[in-house]
Amino acid sequence: MSVDVDIDIDIDHALAVLARGGVVAIPTETVYGLAADAMNQAAIRRVFAIKQRPADHPLIVHLATADWLEDWAAAVPPAALRLADAFWPGPLTLVLPRHRQVLPAITGGQDSVALRVPDHPLTLALIRRLGRGVVAPSANRFTRLSPTHATHVREELGAAVDFILDGGPCRRGIESTILDLRSGAPRMLRPGALAVEDIEAVLRQPVAAANETLRAPGQHALHYSPQATVFIVAPGDMGSLALKLTREGRRVGVLAPPDLPEEDALRQAKIALVCVPAAPEQYAASLYQLLRSLDQQGCDVILASLPSGPGLCTALRDRLLRAAGQGSLDAPDRT
Ligand code: TXA
Ligand code: MG
Repeated sequence: MSVDVDIDIDIDHALAVLARGGVVAIPTETVYGLAADAMNQAAIRRVFAIKQRPADHPLIVHLATADWLEDWAAAVPPAALRLADAFWPGPLTLVLPRHRQVLPAITGGQDSVALRVPDHPLTLALIRRLGRGVVAPSANRFTRLSPTHATHVREELGAAVDFILDGGPCRRGIESTILDLRSGAPRMLRPGALAVEDIEAVLRQPVAAANETLRAPGQHALHYSPQATVFIVAPGDMGSLALKLTREGRRVGVLAPPDLPEEDALRQAKIALVCVPAAPEQYAASLYQLLRSLDQQGCDVILASLPSGPGLCTALRDRLLRAAGQGSLDAPDRT
């Protein structure tokens, strides 16, 4: 693995690289993205190649402001403007009819386009100065964990990217919520860092969960996965299963919920234990980092339980189920 890549806060350099058709890892409030000029077909192709992502998995176009929406979407419904007003810059991606200037390489040839304004000062300044949208999938290889620190990008992609713009750790830690606004009935395609309840409060109408036929294209069950095999278990079964697997010679890691009763016994059995924060916001902010740390400790099995509750817990359950390769009830994904 090569680590020969510049990693810096030098926005002028990032801009020069993007403008000449290069690929730059950019910080956002959700996860790091792998950015390229959305008007440059060759640069977009390189993003797919670096990620090893199939060409029919569409990319999100990141804009500097909602004022740019009409250049990228063929129609902008009032609901889109209301949501943009309420949540942009922020972790909400809107799927709208594609404007004819949007390159088919971005959308996998579909007639829709996914758009968002990310909430990170360096990246906003970068896009504004470039003067047009940038495509940015999460800066990980296909199916792997999304990076939430600049160093994660360097570890995974190294010199495959031209530059890493270091904006510090990502505050939200999981990807944006994706909402399809192409019909009068808004539909969730991916739960994410913005809670569906917050969207419903602004729209004053319910948001339908994606079903199997209407899910975002290019999405499959196994995604956001660490190297280790993840098992979802009830909190009450975690301790005994961890000890059993350890006796069988497995190197076990546990994403321990608050107040796991057997914590001491597990530590004594040398099981890798990371405690998950009780607050969903903090859990989301650290989830991928925690899974990475268990990988780095050499775990071949990770046990996790599903947090119950509304809001961000929906997205946490979704990501944990995908990490376990069990897909999700409401929005499959693999990007
Ligand atoms: O938080 C995020 O959304 C991050 C940061 C970097 O902005 N980006 C991200 O991109 O997660 P990516 O490519 O890893 O995931 C984008 C998802 C994919 O599942 C893709 O299928 C979906 O967005 N998507 C993109 N364009 C779409 C479209 N036109 N219709 C439906 N889904 C679309
Ligand atoms: Mg992704």
